[in-house]
Amino acid sequence: MRLDKLLSHAHGLTRSTAQRAIRSGRIQLASEVVRDPARQVDPAEPITFDGKTLFAPSGPRYFMLHKPAGYLSTTEDGGHPLALDLLTPADRYGLHSAGRLDLDTTGLLLLTDDGQWSHRITSPRHHCAKDYRLQLAEPIADEALDQLRQGVLLRGEEQPTRPAEVERLGSAELRLTIFEGRYHQVKRMVAAVGNRVVTLHRERIGPLRLDPTLAPGGYRPLTAEEIAAF
Ligand code: URA
Repeated sequence: MRLDKLLSHAHGLTRSTAQRAIRSGRIQLASEVVRDPARQVDPAEPITFDGKTLFAPSGPRYFMLHKPAGYLSTTEDGGHPLALDLLTPADRYGLHSAGRLDLDTTGLLLLTDDGQWSHRITSPRHHCAKDYRLQLAEPIADEALDQLRQGVLLRGEEQPTRPAEVERLGSAELRLTIFEGRYHQVKRMVAAVGNRVVTLHRERIGPLRLDPTLAPGGYRPLTAEEIAAF
């Protein structure tokens, strides 16, 4: 990656500030002063700015984020702000989300740069449980809850969903636990029983619950125990 790009992406400098700092000899790689903003660098290489180390290789990183509505969990920009933009530039550098949430879905999003770890969470083979809290457009009958528990056929698919756990929280409010992650799965399951999701909030992924101290948009690093739980 170009040195000026790395400084702006990973360290939050604007591109012009990064270029000025490089040209004026304030940036060093190892002990070499580098004056070329286009110099190709390895992002893991430590960089020194006015003698202070900006980035040392630090191994894989893991965060939980309370995703607010209106943010994309993917890394491509589809005209909406990215959930990753809620992290500081240094924190978000190189991260991807372990699983997705729709633009309007809120709640627990796990972010990491460790592809093997996120694969354990998202791979269909691991049947990782996810809890969602749902507000529905219409009151829902007990029979419909039983259908969700047993598995429903989603539109355009041939295999019914795996058995789910369902807890009634109100006449039109549920907690749903699913063990797979098909495209828009919760909304499509609810549509399959003739209702509609109005709000959707992810409370848990496997052993990890959304930290109740995190306000929407807040995030924190995972502890060593939380990382090892997957
Ligand atoms: N299921 C959905 O339909 N949407 C989400 O964001 C997550 C699960």
